Amino acid sequence: MTRIAILISGFGSNLEAILNAIEEGKLPGVEAALVVSNRREAYGIQRAVKHGVPVVYFPLAPYTKAGRSRREYDADLAAIIRALDVTWIVQAGWMHVFSSAFLDHFPSRVVNLHPALPGTFPGTHGIERAYEAYQKGEIEHTGVIVHLVPDEGVDVGPVVVQEVVEIHPEDSLDDLKTRIHAVEHRLFVQALYELLCKPGLG
Ligand code: GRF
Repeated sequence: MTRIAILISGFGSNLEAILNAIEEGKLPGVEAALVVSNRREAYGIQRAVKHGVPVVYFPLAPYTKAGRSRREYDADLAAIIRALDVTWIVQAGWMHVFSSAFLDHFPSRVVNLHPALPGTFPGTHGIERAYEAYQKGEIEHTGVIVHLVPDEGVDVGPVVVQEVVEIHPEDSLDDLKTRIHAVEHRLFVQALYELLCKPGLG
């Protein structure tokens, strides 16, 4: 089995899509070993519990308060995950940029979801910023990517899969969010299939 850790900070709808796909046999050979949340109130924690997946709540704040560095946080989290024989890291709405102190433990094996096309709207509120850019006539469409995380760059790295998402003139922001999330849930599972389940890979 390929054991993955899924990292979340919030609602966890992409986590849910991945756990459902595993349970439905759509990601053969993949096992969700662990969910990590850096936010206590993340609704995704409840989703993980419902699916019977162990959860680790691992916030940065105690490190900061103790004068310890982000690199120490990253190294400690990597050690926790490695102890569980996890080989792939899946960032599903994970709001923390890892340093090499984490990434070096999982070279080319950290995958991230970004609700925009390559090189566009990195960081938070990517959907809102795309919506505003469309209203100003700066873009005609947006998209979703799943990419590998090679370094500390935000929402950049080798693209595994990408898909254009249309924006229509009559769209509300909520309409666009709904359309993007539907694509995310499908595309993330597709990306994990391509990375982890295709013969000869993973
Ligand atoms: C997604 O839109 C993802 O692209 C972004 O954060 C959101 C997470 O949603 N990075 P959820 O927690 O999976 O529902």
